[in-house]
Amino acid sequence: MLQTPKGHALAIQRGTSPEDAEFVYQWSDESDFQPCLADYHIFCRTSYAHIGLADNARVGLLVTHKYDNSTGFLGPFIVKESERGKGYGYLLWQHAMDNFGDANLGCDAVAARVPYYQRFGFVPHHDTQRFRGPYPRHLAKEAARHYQAKYRLTSFAQEDITTLVEFDYKHSGLRREGWYQNWQDRKSTASLILRDTATGEICAMGAIGRAWQPHHYRISPCYARDPASARRMLLELMTRVIETDSEPDKVLIDMVVMLNNPDAVQIAHDCRLAEGLKCARMWTRGLPCPEGISHTYAVVGFECG
Ligand SMILES: CC(C)(COP(=O)(O)OP(=O)(O)OC[C@H]1O[C@@H](n2cnc3c(N)ncnc32)[C@H](O)[C@@H]1OP(=O)(O)O)[C@@H](O)C(=O)NCCC(=O)NCCS
Repeated sequence: MLQTPKGHALAIQRGTSPEDAEFVYQWSDESDFQPCLADYHIFCRTSYAHIGLADNARVGLLVTHKYDNSTGFLGPFIVKESERGKGYGYLLWQHAMDNFGDANLGCDAVAARVPYYQRFGFVPHHDTQRFRGPYPRHLAKEAARHYQAKYRLTSFAQEDITTLVEFDYKHSGLRREGWYQNWQDRKSTASLILRDTATGEICAMGAIGRAWQPHHYRISPCYARDPASARRMLLELMTRVIETDSEPDKVLIDMVVMLNNPDAVQIAHDCRLAEGLKCARMWTRGLPCPEGISHTYAVVGFECG
């Protein structure tokens, strides 16, 4: 049992069950994080969900993932609103940090929390912003033209896991085998690879998953070699969702865009998605992506796994 300076006792245990998801998602809802429904199951399977318990009730969560000895990422970090300011968050943080040694650590920080993370050596690298809106019906004709001879479309399930992990690694700097394994297994979402028919080269990779609220979806992630391929991928993902949702008129789509990529911002505006929550992506030892981030059109946000 740990003790905060204000005298509150906290036990920390590893979250492993799907039931842990519900309370976290309710709290995330208050902060409008709108996490992907399956994310927590990935966290339990492949990452470390540090759950804080006070008087046997869940009061906080911090998810971390150690990819290898050199890289890690912090996922959702949240304390129940009524329990904030008692020192629980700090204890969860210290507990989680003990696992990381000298590793390069990444996180997404909401603007108000940037100074908090800076205190622990995180440096803002670039800004991201959430865009949200209904299916862009005004682009439906363009979306319907996807199956041109120029591109060949496959799903993650048809691809070799190494192909997925290595393509993602070039752009994210994270080797997320568990994450992609999970995407390959999922049924209710679209996860797609767009290839150049002539060369076989991957032009774009993207996925969309159900979020916590009904009819709400999140694009996560989308990488592409050029804006045209990104646009095709993003429209394809959005179209898959309205083709399968029981009430397409209620569909809302979230896309977290790196603001350093003007083409990605333009696509979000062209889709008439509204601007929302801004975050800073921060790293303790600099951006680890071999190819930089200029081909990133959407990020997972609080990515782990
Ligand atoms: C961020 C969050 C998880 C912090 O949880 P919390 O339990 O309220 O935090 P604590 O009570 O442990 O810490 C409050 C402050 O005391 C400080 N503190 C607490 N214990 C401390 C200790 N032993 N030594 C030094 N400082 C301490 C913390 O650094 C923090 O500083 P701040 O006032 O600048 O924020 C919580 O506010 C939250 O859930 N916010 C909404 C979700 C969110 O924004 N998550 C972060 C996404 S990036």
